[in-house]
Amino acid sequence: MWSYNEFANWFAALFNNDPQPRSKFSARSMLVRDSNIREAARLVAELSATTNLVNLGQGLPEYPAPFELKEAAKAAIDADFNQYSDTRGYAILRQAIAAKLGRYNGIKANPDTEVTVTCGASEALHVSLQTLINPGDEVIIIEPFYENYHPDVIMAGGVPRYVRLQKPDYTFDYRQLAAAFNNKTRAILLTNPHNPTGRVFTHEELRMIGDLCQKWGVVVISDEIYEHLVYDGRRHISIATLPGMEDCTITVSGLSKTFGVTGWRLGYFHASPSMTKQIRRLHDYITLAAPSPLQIAAVTALGMPDTFYSGMVAKYQGARDELCAAAAEAGFKFPKPEGAYYLFSDSSHLGFANDKAAWEYLLRQHKLVSVAGYCFYRPETHSNNLRFCFAKRPATIKIGAGLLKVIGEERRAFAPTGK
Ligand SMILES: Cc1ncc(COP(=O)(O)O)c(C=O)c1O
Repeated sequence: MWSYNEFANWFAALFNNDPQPRSKFSARSMLVRDSNIREAARLVAELSATTNLVNLGQGLPEYPAPFELKEAAKAAIDADFNQYSDTRGYAILRQAIAAKLGRYNGIKANPDTEVTVTCGASEALHVSLQTLINPGDEVIIIEPFYENYHPDVIMAGGVPRYVRLQKPDYTFDYRQLAAAFNNKTRAILLTNPHNPTGRVFTHEELRMIGDLCQKWGVVVISDEIYEHLVYDGRRHISIATLPGMEDCTITVSGLSKTFGVTGWRLGYFHASPSMTKQIRRLHDYITLAAPSPLQIAAVTALGMPDTFYSGMVAKYQGARDELCAAAAEAGFKFPKPEGAYYLFSDSSHLGFANDKAAWEYLLRQHKLVSVAGYCFYRPETHSNNLRFCFAKRPATIKIGAGLLKVIGEERRAFAPTGK
């Protein structure tokens, strides 16, 4: 038998409203790791104040934005496009995006019901996952991956399921890809052209992914932010154009990379009317709308002539070739990037335990900024890769290429067997 006091304590505990110790932060937020790329970028910015660095790190084009674009933005501010826009994006911009989707991607898009302007591709990816994922749903992430994907899936309550691209060419192992799909799979995040490896996925690879998505009722979130950067005469293929894929694809892109305006925060997505309607609901409450005057300027960007794109590709392809030649001479091993603007290389020949140490050595000893490859893998992965961005001016590429050769020589001296 309980004593009166025991009973009273038990009863009080049932209705106990005393303050309990607890974390100030959500479990979700604790699962998200800090962005290594951006943390490194802050360190690089600090060091740049006192040291001349050669920056092949974060994926920012070193070129100024096109003159016409900057003029259009100034004119839009003067014309007082300074209030909230239609949260879906100004109609004139959605029409320009729909025209570009038809012309370049082969996607027939209705600007009213299928195109939405967002604050960068980043928001389009985030809000798509927020709309699709229930807690516990699996999302396939192709590894290595753009740094945002992991936290985006976690923030949506999803469970990342990784499929690793196979070295040395970063191709799919079909069996591994197929084994990742199951009844809990809700979406797959595809980057094409791929950051960080520079792969441009073939029609065959996209078909393979598309078939699995249709079999399992999975949505492809196709991040095509580097769509205009494909080299050696390759053609960009949007997975939404494959048979049966239009209704189960969210095609994401934006202006950041193509027009050198990463700070403008302008992106967009295309999806079926029903998916668009649902994603827009959340978009309205997350960011409301993208910056108004910059949306107006974006209409000018999307109207740039073909020579703008061909000139950019020629410029970046030249930079790629120069950097790849120097990196190969310095002993780095990598597949030649087919698209995007990164060289993703094995760095184990430098003789460091991991890429964080190699990254630090390049930065501190040679003032060369890269990105350590572990940022592109799931937490706790051991990796020995470095990423170099070649969207840089010829002078920067020349100095960077020279430094890579010096580094190769120096490390060979440390490891005389060349291993
Ligand atoms: C694959 C990929 N997707 C999206 C983004 C971000 O795009 P935005 O600036 O439009 O948000 C980046 C930026 O580096 C990227 O590499």
